Amino acid sequence: MRIKDIRARELLDSRGNPTLEVEVELVNGTFGRAIVPSGASTGAYEAVELRDGDTARYFGKGVLKAITHVQSELRELVTNRDSDDQNNIDQAMCDLDGTPNKGRLGANAILGVSLALARASAATRKQPLYRYLGELYAPETKIQTLPVPMCNVLNGGAHAADSTDFQEFMFMPIGAPTFRAGIQQISECYQHLKHILTKRGLSTNVGDEGGFAPPLSTNREAVDLLIEAIEASGHRPGEDIAIALDPATTELYTLDTNRNQTGRGSYNLEREGRVVTSSELGALWSEWIRDYPIVSIEDGMAEEDWAGWIQLTQEIGDRVQLVGDDLLVTNTERLKRGINENAANAILIKLNQIGTLTETFSAIRMAQEANWNAVISHRSGETEDTFIAHLAVATGVGQIKAGATARTDRTSKYNELLRIEEDLGATAIYPGSSLFAYDA
Ligand code: PGA
Ligand code: ZN
Repeated sequence: MRIKDIRARELLDSRGNPTLEVEVELVNGTFGRAIVPSGASTGAYEAVELRDGDTARYFGKGVLKAITHVQSELRELVTNRDSDDQNNIDQAMCDLDGTPNKGRLGANAILGVSLALARASAATRKQPLYRYLGELYAPETKIQTLPVPMCNVLNGGAHAADSTDFQEFMFMPIGAPTFRAGIQQISECYQHLKHILTKRGLSTNVGDEGGFAPPLSTNREAVDLLIEAIEASGHRPGEDIAIALDPATTELYTLDTNRNQTGRGSYNLEREGRVVTSSELGALWSEWIRDYPIVSIEDGMAEEDWAGWIQLTQEIGDRVQLVGDDLLVTNTERLKRGINENAANAILIKLNQIGTLTETFSAIRMAQEANWNAVISHRSGETEDTFIAHLAVATGVGQIKAGATARTDRTSKYNELLRIEEDLGATAIYPGSSLFAYDA
């Protein structure tokens, strides 16, 4: 269907910062709409999120420039094209931008159009978004796989002041028979965690992703609390509910050429009162996976520390999922290097790290072809938009990271997946622990 018009507006994300909503209207009156999320612990190699920089509004975080780009150059480019032409339109937007990182028009402007376009296309075909995306992604593949949620219940690092060094401590209901049962289990564990914190006189205020953010004296204490909550809820740690981590170590890393001769940096673990090398940090992860039912570690090394990543993958990559977020930034160039150098074994997928739906599909496809896992992810600054829930089912990657089972910016994704599971009925598959079936 021919595109009649596109428009954009500035509204708020879950942190209260401005972001962009784009609407694509088709000539038959159908329209699609999408809101762009925003990160806090962003990777240096992400596509550029264009902010106004004019401190008289929203502390410089306004997105009026991006809106102008949508309503001028991008509007001119896209109007009158066919809404089914997602790949070519995405490519044309990248070409029009002309920079390698979408720095001219803004990845937020381009992504808003890209996602609203997919929504408009799905709407005019009267298809649920996940079905339309599934056909775009892999027309021959049956859409049936729900993702196992990675549910961030303790927030630290850049997402919560005065909490742990590490950013995210997550529950994964790997033993549940269905997505719905998994959500119930982790929601129960989340409530038990709250009771445990209250009993100890610790704060139950939440961080950016809905997880609690108590001031803890060690990083290990966070994992101990998760185990206690799983047990208190009557579930079995490791069998029913596993643990996933995103320590987001780029935030802890400084290049310190004096410390060693390799030109590599070191990691500041403030809670533990020590600064460690990548080998020492790798040893910490080895200990943690020995002591706890941890199935996944994201950004266990910093985005600049390729040597650290390679060593870590050699040491524990046959036993645990090692997810590159800041390292790979949903970018096929960086992912290709990661695969070639065996620097991880999974990728985190964030649409706004790269800036179009088509490039996001390419990253997921490249990962799947290399037998890597992929995890579809929210940003710490989210909105009510549920696009990623549909993307997870459409691509069948089997995992989604969408925050705690609390706060509407997070639960909106889980709730949408509950609807999709219902829609799929008996054909729905929940992969559970099969995601982590490593060859012994
Ligand atoms: P961000 O954090 O959205 O603030 O970048 C999420 C993550 O690191 O996975
Ligand atoms: Zn991360």
